[in-house]
Amino acid sequence: MDENKELKEKRYTCKCGKKDEFLTKLFDTYLPIKDNLIQMLNEVQEHYGYVPKDVQMELSEFLKVPVAEIYGVVTFYSRFTLKPKGKYSISVCLGTACFVKGSQKIMDRLKERLKIDEGETTKDGKFSIEAQRCVGACGLAPVFTINGKVYGKATVKMLDEVLDKLEQE
Ligand code: FES
Repeated sequence: MDENKELKEKRYTCKCGKKDEFLTKLFDTYLPIKDNLIQMLNEVQEHYGYVPKDVQMELSEFLKVPVAEIYGVVTFYSRFTLKPKGKYSISVCLGTACFVKGSQKIMDRLKERLKIDEGETTKDGKFSIEAQRCVGACGLAPVFTINGKVYGKATVKMLDEVLDKLEQE
C-alpha cells in the first residue's frame, strides 16, 4: 500500500475499526482547495448535525487551512454548530425588528423553561436553543423558528403552547 493510501485508510477509520464512509466520500469528492471549505462544512453540518472538532482537524489537514481559521468560520456562521443540536432546534430572532417587538422576552422564557442557555441542548437531546439575527421575516416580528419552521407574531403564550405540545411527543 503506498504511503498516501495508507494515511487515508488510517484517517478515515474509526477507533472501533469501522470506516467513516461519509468522510471517505467527502474527501474523495472535493479538491483540496480552500475555496471548498464552506461547502464541505455545509455537508459535515448536515451529516453529523454539527461540526465535530476531529473533523475540523481533518479539514485543516486536507485543505491546508489552519484549524483556528476553520474554527473562526464555524463560529461566525449561525448555520454551523460545535455541538449536536436537539431534535427540536429552536431559534429566536434577536434582529432589530424582532428585538424591538419583544423577542428577548421569548428567549428568556425559552431558557427558563428548558433550563439551558443559548447554544446548548437539553440532556435528553430533545431541544436546543439558538439566537439568530434576522431570519428575513421582519413583517412577522417577533419571530422564532423550530427546525426552520417560522412562528410569527410570537408571544410567550404561543411559545408555551408550542412547547407543551412538543414536550408530550
Ligand atoms: S429581525 Fe427578526 S425576522 Fe428580521
